[in-house]
Amino acid sequence: MAEQHKFYGQEEFSKGLEGVIACESKLGYIDGQKGWLIYRGIEIGDLAEHSTYEETAYLLLFGKLPTRKELDEFTQKLVNYRTIDPRVADIIKSMPPTAHPMALLRTAFSALGAYENPEKVDEFDLEAWTELGIKAISQMATVAAEVGRLRAGLPPVAPDPNLNHASDFFYMLTGKKPNELEADVMNKALILHADHGMNASTFTSMVVASSLSDIYSAITGGLSSLKGPLHGGANERTLKMFMEIGEPENAKAYIEDKLARKVKIMGMGHRVYKAYDPRAKILKSYAERLAKLSGNEKLYTISQEVEKVMIERLGKKGIFPNVDYYSGIVYHSLGIDSKMFTPIFAVSRVAGWVARVLEYLHSNRIFRPRAIYTGPLKAEYVPIDQRS
Ligand code: ACO
Repeated sequence: MAEQHKFYGQEEFSKGLEGVIACESKLGYIDGQKGWLIYRGIEIGDLAEHSTYEETAYLLLFGKLPTRKELDEFTQKLVNYRTIDPRVADIIKSMPPTAHPMALLRTAFSALGAYENPEKVDEFDLEAWTELGIKAISQMATVAAEVGRLRAGLPPVAPDPNLNHASDFFYMLTGKKPNELEADVMNKALILHADHGMNASTFTSMVVASSLSDIYSAITGGLSSLKGPLHGGANERTLKMFMEIGEPENAKAYIEDKLARKVKIMGMGHRVYKAYDPRAKILKSYAERLAKLSGNEKLYTISQEVEKVMIERLGKKGIFPNVDYYSGIVYHSLGIDSKMFTPIFAVSRVAGWVARVLEYLHSNRIFRPRAIYTGPLKAEYVPIDQRS
């Protein structure tokens, strides 16, 4: 048997870093067994019911609910920062409109980072990081909306300083001012997705920032990770699955077939939740209401059938709908192209990325895990013409 080098801590190897504690945080907490989520101690349901995205972003960043004056100042900053360098639109136009919007958003946001030139501030100046972080949270809405418009062959829509962040994003994306229900749903969707522990995209952002790179690089890393179907990309795939099923009576056979072939059902299951995701519970009621109002009732009925079969089959393993299960029906019912679902997620989650990056930087230590080396410890260098 090949000789193996022993590393300190080797016995603690955890695939996918599952269960590994990488830092301390006061930002948010998930009890996966209970299906319970808090931001800074406040239950997600209370925030969705009473708060705004601006207030929630402030809470995540600064650790407390803002006073009216603090909220007004913060809101004004977000308004001011929503107008971005016009060259970003040129960059989006120069890319193939057939590319996935998350690829366009990742590249455009990274380019915006070059125009913002975060290197002009001292990399140890956390106040400067914070200000740029607030700017980036605001700018994400504009860049994502520009991506949505330009890939559809439509001109960008300038931000409206009179709208709140969620409504302005909806307006810049669709070109239509939201009605009361649309404004409420967008605001709630952005609150619900704003932070969620050490998920893959948040961790990616933190890893990037831990080298003291810059906040735009960290966020670009977060976007790259969020894009994947096992993370933020699941919302788009979930809607596609409901459409493929086509009729409620096809749901059972469709799911049984996928499970027999060990194919994952999108929008179901979660690394942390082993109970119903509280965010999915909130979105479910909106999905039902909006699907009825927009003539998408059949999609909702299909979702109910799939949920029933999945809980019967895998509920005992802790598999329930996650946040991506109902958001697709919600956005589709608002008339939004399914390819834009993950960018909407990014417009919200950027607050969590920035808040966790800043929190970590206060006692920064560059991330540097190790791998267990399972290759040979002794191998010969064979000259190229002697190799078989
Ligand atoms: N469909 C079918 N079976 C599933 C699913 C699913 N969606 N999720 C988990 N399972 C199965 C696993 O294969 C495993 O089976 P086994 O006991 O035979 O090995 C069992 O249920 C337990 O799985 P977990 O350990 O709970 O799942 P894990 O932590 O490995 O994966 C993940 C979590 C990646 C989210 C997974 O559930 C999945 O791929 N879901 C579909 C994609 C999705 O919706 N992603 C969005 C997540 S939320 C977010 O990122 C915003």
